[in-house]
Amino acid sequence: MIYVIDFGSQTAHLIARRIQELGSPAKFITPHDAIAEIELKKPQGIILSGGPASVYEEGSPTIDKKIFEIGVPILAICYGFQLTAHLLGGKVVSGKKEYGPAKLEIGNLKLEITSGLPQQSTVWMSHGDEIVTLPHGFETIGSTDHVPFAFAQDTKRNITGLLFHPEVEHTQVGDTILKNFISACGVVSKKHTIDVKKIEEGIKNEVGDAYVIGAVSGGVDSTVAGVLTAKAIGDKFIPIYVNNGLMRQGTTEHVKKIFTEIAKINPIVIDAVGETLEQLRGIQGPEEKRKVIGALYITIFEREMEKLLKTGKPVTFLLQGTIYSDVIESQGTKHASKIKSHHNVGGLPAHMKLKLLEPLRNFYKDEVRDIGRQLGIPDEFIHKQPFPGPGYAVRIRGEVTAERLEKEKIADKIVLEELEAAGMLKNVFISFPVMTGVDSTATKGDGRFFGEVIALRVVESRDVMTAKWAHLPYDVLQKISSRIVNEVLGISRVVYDISTKPPATMEWE
Ligand code: XMP
Repeated sequence: MIYVIDFGSQTAHLIARRIQELGSPAKFITPHDAIAEIELKKPQGIILSGGPASVYEEGSPTIDKKIFEIGVPILAICYGFQLTAHLLGGKVVSGKKEYGPAKLEIGNLKLEITSGLPQQSTVWMSHGDEIVTLPHGFETIGSTDHVPFAFAQDTKRNITGLLFHPEVEHTQVGDTILKNFISACGVVSKKHTIDVKKIEEGIKNEVGDAYVIGAVSGGVDSTVAGVLTAKAIGDKFIPIYVNNGLMRQGTTEHVKKIFTEIAKINPIVIDAVGETLEQLRGIQGPEEKRKVIGALYITIFEREMEKLLKTGKPVTFLLQGTIYSDVIESQGTKHASKIKSHHNVGGLPAHMKLKLLEPLRNFYKDEVRDIGRQLGIPDEFIHKQPFPGPGYAVRIRGEVTAERLEKEKIADKIVLEELEAAGMLKNVFISFPVMTGVDSTATKGDGRFFGEVIALRVVESRDVMTAKWAHLPYDVLQKISSRIVNEVLGISRVVYDISTKPPATMEWE
């Protein structure tokens, strides 16, 4: 087991995930509990995460210095490294700032931690503070154009410091450094398998004789959580799918098929397409759209609950497909800045008084997919693209009308078909057209017209925190563009979005 001490980095959960991917169990702990827990459980290695604070500020998170004497290998990342330097007699100042890519030059390639690394590589930085004096016992391993101490080690105490982030996908040498670190910890990599029967037993024990309802969206997480629960407690689980018309084509059929065929349960499917469009009429702003969709969802859900209670079913639990990254992103951790609210039926009213059942709370996305596969959910479903909770409403800038929604759906289908035909769908994280709300001039036949511009967004990402626009071949782009302007009525042109994240988010709204 490797312990990750969390100082509030937005990518702290990625560290634990990478460590797990490399075959070692990892656990998150707070700096406050660290020493007691480490002395009790004796992990094989410790990672100090990054964080948004500055070590020289009053009240910034710190750790008991005893940690450096425990004797297991320590990897200190960004804030963790600055804190290590600060506590052990080095000097940290508000210095050279580096955000984004930097060139790392490694001077000593003979160490265990640098095994297999190239002399030069690109690393991802995100710091405003700099270590200007290393503590006694540390030696520099690598530097960038801006900072001399980007990578350092105290070989005697087995402490390695990195000012860059090995956990993000754009740090080319990140995985190798983490692999070298867990090997220095003496962890023997092994793929851990998830015992699905044990999770089902856990659900049975937690729920007892009560009924469970669950809002299923057709997404991977709520589907896997739903099928798991259905397998555990049979028809005491009642899945509810609200079709608000904002989901991808075929979602309703998919949900019905998976629950009836695999979980042997008929989901309650509610047609709310008309009601949703009615409520969205005249609304322009993205946040307002989100609010309307969320509120309507709750109203519909409450209505169904009332009906169920009248039939004498003691519904006590609400199933949610919350997964580990949602927990980290929405609640944050003690020292993290809150990133975004999680959208799992966010805010069902308190008076519903349902207890939450969250069987996937401790699992990462790839583990959830693994559980889904073990449950017999088809691969093409498990690997489908993530789709935002408010659906197409955030991909149609301005008012969502039935007409624009139809255009968006046809264009989306074209993009998916063409990426699939080109064999590229599996390589992209997310792909979609955006109804930009901007009109431009076009001619079709002999006539001139003014029609809406569609922007095409296709990005590659592994960790969602960062993304690159997909370098699609020109002929694939051409085919998509021609099909959209020919097959979607009133579209004047198609533009390709070539913005990275950061700064641009994946979605436009
Ligand atoms: P961004 O746009 O934040 O997208 O770079 C990252 C991932 O989050 C999804 N996303 C949302 N999901 N409600 C959701 O349920 C939202 O409001 C929302 N906004 C973005 C996005 O589709 C991508 O997978």
